[in-house]
Amino acid sequence: MKRFTILVALLLATTFSAFADKGMWLPSLIASRIDDMKAKGFKLEAEDIYSINQASLKDAVVLFDGGCTGEIVSNEGLLITNHHCGYDAIQALSSVEHDYLTDGFWAMSKEEELPCPGLKVHILVRMEDVTERIAKGEKVEKIIAKAQKEGKGYVAKVEQLYYGNQAYLFVYREFSDVRLVAAPPTTIGKFGADNDNWIWPRHTGDFSIFRIYVNGKNEPAAYNANNKPYTPARHFKVSTEGVKEGDFTMIYGFPGNTQEYITSDAVKYIAEKSDPTKIELRTQRLDIIGAAQKLSPETRIKYAAKQANIANAWKKWQGEVKGINRLGTYSKKLDYEAKFREQNPDKAYLLDSLEASYAKNMEGYFNYELFNETLRGIELQQVVFLASDAAAIERFYKDFDVEVDRELAVAMLKAYEELATADATSLRKLFAQHGGAEQYANWLYDNTKLGTFEGFKATNIAEDPMVEFANAVIEIQRYVKQFAYRNLSNIPDIQRWYQPYVKALMEWDKERAFFPDANLTLRVAYGKVAGYEYEDAVWHNPQTTLEGIIAKDNPEIYDYNVPQALRDAYAKKDYGRWGIELNGKYTVPVCFIATNHTTGGNSGSPVINANGELIGVNFDRTWLSTMSDIEFDETLCRNIICDIRYVLFVVDKVGGAGWLIDEMGL
Ligand code: ARG
Ligand code: GLU
Repeated sequence: MKRFTILVALLLATTFSAFADKGMWLPSLIASRIDDMKAKGFKLEAEDIYSINQASLKDAVVLFDGGCTGEIVSNEGLLITNHHCGYDAIQALSSVEHDYLTDGFWAMSKEEELPCPGLKVHILVRMEDVTERIAKGEKVEKIIAKAQKEGKGYVAKVEQLYYGNQAYLFVYREFSDVRLVAAPPTTIGKFGADNDNWIWPRHTGDFSIFRIYVNGKNEPAAYNANNKPYTPARHFKVSTEGVKEGDFTMIYGFPGNTQEYITSDAVKYIAEKSDPTKIELRTQRLDIIGAAQKLSPETRIKYAAKQANIANAWKKWQGEVKGINRLGTYSKKLDYEAKFREQNPDKAYLLDSLEASYAKNMEGYFNYELFNETLRGIELQQVVFLASDAAAIERFYKDFDVEVDRELAVAMLKAYEELATADATSLRKLFAQHGGAEQYANWLYDNTKLGTFEGFKATNIAEDPMVEFANAVIEIQRYVKQFAYRNLSNIPDIQRWYQPYVKALMEWDKERAFFPDANLTLRVAYGKVAGYEYEDAVWHNPQTTLEGIIAKDNPEIYDYNVPQALRDAYAKKDYGRWGIELNGKYTVPVCFIATNHTTGGNSGSPVINANGELIGVNFDRTWLSTMSDIEFDETLCRNIICDIRYVLFVVDKVGGAGWLIDEMGL
């Protein structure tokens, strides 16, 4: 049956020459895709997605805390993002008396909402192609300065697209009075934690709710108790209609980093050198921290966030390597490049130049990555730099264990000693003086007085051996800084060849739909709700339900300890307006998957249906998808979405915060 559907879909796809569900498109150019979107079920116009003349959906999408996405769902600036995106803010507001991470937080009125110092959101005012203006000699700084004068709270940026073939001005409104409205307990917002991370089937209620406040003129303003809720130009209407296999879905958000056009050399570097090394180093760190966490509940808590951070990319990279190998991305790139050379002999030098610049920079970039993964992971050196900031120092020691850090230092210095080829004169000298990296690390932790807060307070830092170590690290940092770019391919010496290469590709490969790589600017991706073949004979359905949460329930395991409120609702089938009939069961929808092309930064992104209504909140990809940053495969790649009906159910039945549901107009 499934096979039949796929065949028919393929036939249809060729008949109507529809595009694949691949790509992250610039909203201002979405008119070029709108026919394809409509053919796939979308009912709105390009102007509804992005317009500078009228309110459009873009006015309801926010860049949240500089690395996630969020969406406005009421005319009073109520906004939804992921729990893991609000995590820092929620943690900062938490204390032993008010542990909002563990217990959740539910404001019962606007007065109870909590200001989040330092938290900012940005809303795009407009974007503009400034390639010509720059070509004509206008200075980027001037363009930015001029745009920032257009309105109160405006910040502007010029970003390169297609490796510098285009430059775009992005003008944002920056809001800095953002307050926490609601967060589910960790047992919902982080249900399944790292075990389930990057995994489908998934049952995480990964959402949190905030509100934007402004001054009396509806303009961005610093926190003030008298500020008013923001009236957005547009907000998302929430749909409780739900989804089914094949339904059109669109994602509107801020994807951070993809590398669609890199050459075979870069793919090989990622799959054979960079990812495997980083995975191995992080395995060591995770093992060390994990073992210590097992021995002490205190350490488990202290290192929970650090462990989660290390584990997130660690797990992603493993999926990425497998995916690249499964798709044969490297040999596909080789073939593509051979064809390019053959058909563009006059441009073949571009590939030669790319090859040569990779050869020249790869080792340096590897040392930069190695530096990040090894030396920067040794935490105690931070004390040398934080020493004068009393609050930062206190925060540091709150989540620090010197014996864990010693073990990390031993392992990471040994790895560095073995793998680094960068200029590390002082550090190598220290190794030599003590008979090797391991001996040096142990000597350092035997002799430093900074291992505890008490020790720190009683010490003259200048005389501590940690200073010498920190200085040796800085020396290396000074060297690797020249390679400190988002990806190997963004090192200017390499990237400058991508500009003419990608231009030549666009002129040559007319069949290919070229989208600009993600760079944390606003994009649209569209596709459909779809299951997929996980492995031979194993089909994964696109929707999970409360049944799956209850099946995972285990009070003994922290990550699967379902809150009592959910157990009670399940026992009484007390689902209120949110219950559905699915596969013969009365239940509550929890998460679903779709074919939208997403990446890090798309966390919290609104997922909308054919009518432009909010049906879910994006928060992850499946493990088989993570190579999509390099090669997207429609048959395998799935983004993971928290069903808006689960969000509403939790707000209602766990939080008892019905006033928010009323505010969303439901
Ligand atoms: N994998 C998702 C994203 O990259 C969710 C991360 C949440 N963190 C975690 N350790 N579970 O970033
Ligand atoms: N969890 C990711 C984020 O924080 C989104 C998942 C992905 O990489 O697709 O943005």
